[in-house]
Amino acid sequence: MKVELYQATDQNPNMKNYDEVYQNFDWDEIKENFSWSKTNKFNMAYECIDKHVDEGYGDKDALYYKNGDEKSSYTFKEMQDASNKAANILKDEAGVEKGDRVFIFMSRSPELYFTLLGALKAGAIVGPLFEAFMEKAVKDRLENSDAKVIVTTPELVGRIPEADLPNLEKVIVVGEVEDENHVDFNAAFENASEEFEIEWLDKEDGMILHYTSGSTGQPKGVLHVHYAMIQQYISGKYVLDLKEDDVYWCTADPGWVTGTSYGIFAPWLNRVTNVVVGGRFSPESWYGAIEDLKVTVWYSAPTAFRMLMGAGDETVKDYDLSSLRHLLSVGEPLNPEVVKWGMEVFKLRIHDTWWMTETGAHMITNFPAMDIKGGSMGKPIPGVEASIIDDEGNELPPNRMGNLALKTGWPAMMREIWKNKPKYDSYFIGEWYVSGDSAYKDEDGYYWFQGRVDDVIMTAGERVGPFEIESKLVEHPAVQEAGVIGKPDPVRGEIVKAFIALKKEYEASDELKEEIRKFVKEGLAAHAAPREIEFKDKLPKTRSGKIMRRVLKAWELNIDAGDLSSMDDD
Ligand code: PRX
Repeated sequence: MKVELYQATDQNPNMKNYDEVYQNFDWDEIKENFSWSKTNKFNMAYECIDKHVDEGYGDKDALYYKNGDEKSSYTFKEMQDASNKAANILKDEAGVEKGDRVFIFMSRSPELYFTLLGALKAGAIVGPLFEAFMEKAVKDRLENSDAKVIVTTPELVGRIPEADLPNLEKVIVVGEVEDENHVDFNAAFENASEEFEIEWLDKEDGMILHYTSGSTGQPKGVLHVHYAMIQQYISGKYVLDLKEDDVYWCTADPGWVTGTSYGIFAPWLNRVTNVVVGGRFSPESWYGAIEDLKVTVWYSAPTAFRMLMGAGDETVKDYDLSSLRHLLSVGEPLNPEVVKWGMEVFKLRIHDTWWMTETGAHMITNFPAMDIKGGSMGKPIPGVEASIIDDEGNELPPNRMGNLALKTGWPAMMREIWKNKPKYDSYFIGEWYVSGDSAYKDEDGYYWFQGRVDDVIMTAGERVGPFEIESKLVEHPAVQEAGVIGKPDPVRGEIVKAFIALKKEYEASDELKEEIRKFVKEGLAAHAAPREIEFKDKLPKTRSGKIMRRVLKAWELNIDAGDLSSMDDD
C-alpha cells in the first residue's frame, strides 16, 4: 500500500528540529523547570498547581469542566485551595499518611481532580478506578493493593464490598451519604481549611497505581513514582506542543493512564488550561465542547475518531471548530484512513502516539515539526531509545518485524508491579523492556505497529485481559468453561468475543447469551462484557488444561491454527 506523507505545516512548534533535539537531549537539563531542582523536595501536586500560584499565575484558568449544560471553571489558586481542602479531609477524617493507597472511584467531576491532587499532597499513592467497574473488579484491585481509603459517589458506593475488605478503613462519599460510617465529603469540604502542609517526598516515592491487564492472571498494579513528572512535562511540551494560551482537552478518563499522565499531569505541569468533559460520548457533545470552550489541542483515540467519522461530515459542519490547532491520538493503531479524514475535516494532521500504562509517558510519537507517514507511530521521544529485538534480545535491522522494545531507564518507567516481583521481572530481556507489541522500524527510523504478541485485547482503546473475563464467565452457573479473544472490528479495533461450553444441563439460547453478557457487565465492567458469544460443545485445550486462545482466534478468523501438538484432543 502506498504510504501517504503529511508534511508539517506548523511554523512555530516548541520543538523545531527533532533530530537535533534528540541527539543532544539530556534529562539533567530539564530539571531546572521544577522547584525540586533547588529544594530536592518532591510532590507532583505541588508542581502541577501550587508552583504556578507561587510564581504569580494564581488567576490563570486551570480547569474548565463541562457536563451537558453544566459548566464551571477553576483558576490555579482555586485548584490549590480545593486540593488543600481535600488533602485535609483525607488526613483528618481518614488518617491518610505517606504511602497509603487512596482509591478514587467516581465519574469525571471537579471533585475527582480535587481529591486526586489532595491525595498526592497528603503523600498517598493514588489508585484511580474507572467508573464502569463493578463489584468484582473493584474488590480485586482494592484487595491487591491493601487500599486504606476510597473516595466515591452515591451511584458507585454500592459496588464496594466493604465486608470483604478488612484493610479498607474509610469510605468517603461525594454526595448524599446513607451509611453513618461513611464520610460526607461535601460537608467536610465546607469546613475544611484551605491551608495544607504538603507532604514532601523523594523522587522515587510511589505516586500512582494503575491496574492494567495482561494475557494471564489478574490485573496488575503498575506503580509510577513522582519523578515521572519530568517526562510527562517534556512530552507535554514537545509532543502535545502545549503553549501558554492553549486550551487542552484529553478525552481519556483518569481511570486509565492517558487520563492521568496526559489528562492531569502533562497539561498542569505545563501550566495550561485543562478541559474535562463529563457525561457520555456523542458527536454533538464532543464537537460542542470544542466549539464552546475553544479547545486548541485535542488528544483522543482512534475509536472516537472513527465514531466521529461514522457520524458523517455534515455533523461537523454545524460546529465552529476553528480553534483547533493540534490533534493527537493514542491507544490503538491509527488507521491511515482516519488520518486522511482528519485532513479533510479539520484540515489538520492527527499525530499518533504510542506508549503503555507501564511506560508512564509517551515513547514513540509523531511530532509537530516532523513529516508524518500515515499509519506510522512515529519516532522515539528525546531521552528514550527504542528498538526492534528478537526473542533473545538481539537488535534487528530495519524492516524486520520483531518485539518493540525500549532501553530501560527512562524516568516515567513503572517501578514495580504491586506485590508481584516475578511479573515485573518478566518484562525484561537484558537491558530491554519488552512491550508485548510487535512492530518494525523503516529505513527512516519510523516505527510501524503490527499487533500484540500476546492475547491482550484492545477494545475501543481500552486494554482488557481475557483471563479476568474468563474468570468471571465461569462464575455463571451455566458456564462450564470459557475462552475469550479479541475479534477484529471496524470501529472499536477489536471487540470481546467469548467461546463458551455450557454445563450439560443447560441449553444454548439467545436468552442465555444475553444473561451471560449481563452477568459480566454487571459483575465486572461494561467494557469487558463480550459483545459476541458463541456456544461450543468443547473448547480447545492443552494437555495441562489451558484453553488455547490462539485456536479460538484461528476459528474466528478462518485461518490455520498452526502447531497443535500440545492440544488435548480426546
Ligand atoms: O498494544 C499497544 C496499544 O495499547 C497497548 C497499551 O495499552 P495501555 O497500557 O492500556 O495504554 C494505552 C494508552 C497509553 C500497547 O501495548 N497501543 C497504545 N498506543 C498505540 C497502541 N497500538 C497502536 N498504536 C498506538 N499508537
